[in-house]
Amino acid sequence: MASNPPLNHRDAQNGSTPSQVAVVMVPLPAQGHLNQLLHLSRLIAAYNIPIHFVSTTTHNHQAKLRLHGWNPLTAANIHFHDFSIPEFQSPTANPNASNKFPSHLQPLFNTVSHLRRPVAALLQTLSHTTHRVVVVHDSLMSSVVQDVFSIPNAESYIFHSISAFSVFWYFWEGLEQEKPLPVEEGLEKQVPSLDDCFTPEFMEFIVSEQKYMSSCSGYLYNACRVIEGRYMDLIEKLTGNENQKHWAIGPFNPLELTGKKPDGPRHECLKWLDKQEPKSVLFVSFGTTTSLPDEQIKELATGLEESEVTFIWVLRDADRGDMTAGDEGTMRKVELPKGFEERVKERGVVVRDWAPQLEILGHFATGGFMSHCGWNSCMESISMGVPIAAWPMHSDQPRNAVLMTEVLKIGLVAKDWARRDETVKASTISRVLKRLMGSGEGEEIRQRAQELHGAVRRAVADGGITRLEMDSFVAHITR
Ligand SMILES: *[C@@H]1O[C@H](CO)[C@@H](O)[C@H](O)[C@H]1NC(C)=O
Repeated sequence: MASNPPLNHRDAQNGSTPSQVAVVMVPLPAQGHLNQLLHLSRLIAAYNIPIHFVSTTTHNHQAKLRLHGWNPLTAANIHFHDFSIPEFQSPTANPNASNKFPSHLQPLFNTVSHLRRPVAALLQTLSHTTHRVVVVHDSLMSSVVQDVFSIPNAESYIFHSISAFSVFWYFWEGLEQEKPLPVEEGLEKQVPSLDDCFTPEFMEFIVSEQKYMSSCSGYLYNACRVIEGRYMDLIEKLTGNENQKHWAIGPFNPLELTGKKPDGPRHECLKWLDKQEPKSVLFVSFGTTTSLPDEQIKELATGLEESEVTFIWVLRDADRGDMTAGDEGTMRKVELPKGFEERVKERGVVVRDWAPQLEILGHFATGGFMSHCGWNSCMESISMGVPIAAWPMHSDQPRNAVLMTEVLKIGLVAKDWARRDETVKASTISRVLKRLMGSGEGEEIRQRAQELHGAVRRAVADGGITRLEMDSFVAHITR
């Protein structure tokens, strides 16, 4: 861990022996989920606690390959356990689907239940050699880790991979309270319903996982109290159970990017960024779970061109369930408007491979992020002080977009969720980008994003609120 940010090793201070505790990380095998728990692994490993990171062989490989900001291969304390699951259908995403939820990943989600047995065997083994086994698992992997409850010296913590803001609304809706909402007046009207956020199959999957959640020992959030303190407080109040604590220990991603990639040179787009003006570049990326329709790609290209902003655009199709299933040949070759790349070559870069998002957001030249508002992307953007042009697609994203634009006021709406069935026109895109990247209003928004970035920096520094909460979690599991 030599190349990582200076995290103090607290074990000497609290008198316990953390080496007697082993943490087993069980992420949902999808990029936004894998990435968050891998980053969390670094934070816990810094306390001298061994981490056992569990996934399928391909997803472990993918998580390591795609990680940015530190090098998981140099972290001696993090052990990867590659398990195999039966073959499953691994189609490409349909870019024309009206519901943007990645239903093409459902066969994968239906097959991860096969991790239950190898995970149970690992927990058994560790339970004999360690004083306490601590399982940290994605809320959607609750059934996979259910055997934890039959092991006397094991306990589990649920990781909610979404914002505290989104978690709060789920809880609130589940309670069907008559009481007035304890949030800003008018906010409820802006928080969209769950219509079209998921598929019925995925809703069933969520419900079936919920059965296994009640016996956990606590909850972890990639949340920071300087960002979402109000919603963490509300969650604690609403769920009030002394035996199940909630720890806001985010952001999980590092703020200081020190680790060099184990192999290969710096990405070309970073070298290009080096030559740009501070805070002048818009980063455009919509995550790993959706593919934009051809027509939308054309409008976006035209909008970027008309806006005259400087940009890096990551133009990729959605991940397939099995990352190794598709070679590039089976991927759609999207045609950009004729001559587009030639015309914008002085001020725009189109990236079609994996982009180092965290490093791009942390670069001095980046001044805006057009994003689908997945929580991973939101946290990375907040951490780096970059304001958002929100383009939500599914799941918690529409609500995260409200958090970013209406609550934190560090972004503008690019795609209005209420008009999700419509293609966003080039003129709309151009207009919002000019506001964000070239107006006094945009400057104010960027200023607020920078202030939040400063507050997050203080939160993760020694003595800061996130660091104290992390200390508290580690003290709890090493008690
Ligand atoms: C999506 O629709 C467009 C026409 O609107 C069509 O050209 C394209 O082949 C369709 N793609 C898929 C994968 O169905």
